[in-house]
Amino acid sequence: MAEIILSYQEYPTKQDLPPHLQTLLDQAQEACNKAYAPYSHFYVGAAVALANGEIMQGCNQENSALPAGLCAERTAFYATGVQHPGVLIQSVAITACRDKTNPEPVAVTPCGGCRQVMMEFEERQKSPIQLLMHSFSGSYLLIPSVTSLLPFNFSQQHMTH
Ligand code: THU
Repeated sequence: MAEIILSYQEYPTKQDLPPHLQTLLDQAQEACNKAYAPYSHFYVGAAVALANGEIMQGCNQENSALPAGLCAERTAFYATGVQHPGVLIQSVAITACRDKTNPEPVAVTPCGGCRQVMMEFEERQKSPIQLLMHSFSGSYLLIPSVTSLLPFNFSQQHMTH
């Protein structure tokens, strides 16, 4: 039987994270406060750290025509593609809350569509993108490469080989 192994690091609290990831998480939290989510009331923030030192924020943008909305991760990645084309993406932090007046972080992991999009950014830049997210137990999970969250993914290679 073959198996796929996913390696990741778990940090019990925010204070256990390396300082640059704490900063990134703060940026994701700030982005979360700008989320437009009047339908789900699930507010998500993402912050993308670039090799040039910039941090790009994203938050979910919902719409009355529900499928027209977009997740925080894609908002951040696509904005990065426009504002900083070709600049290496090092990491992304995501966070969520259910009440902006009490921004207690809740568990969130990227949806399948966002994993697919982040994976292609990673593929294009040929360098791993770390992903930091918040688990159900309250700890922080650091995944060394977004592609590892999509085993047996469909990629550009399938179209050309
Ligand atoms: N959402 C995100 O923005 N990112 C995720 O990783 C999970 C889900 C948004 C989409 C929608 O606006 C709301 O959360 C509820 O699904």
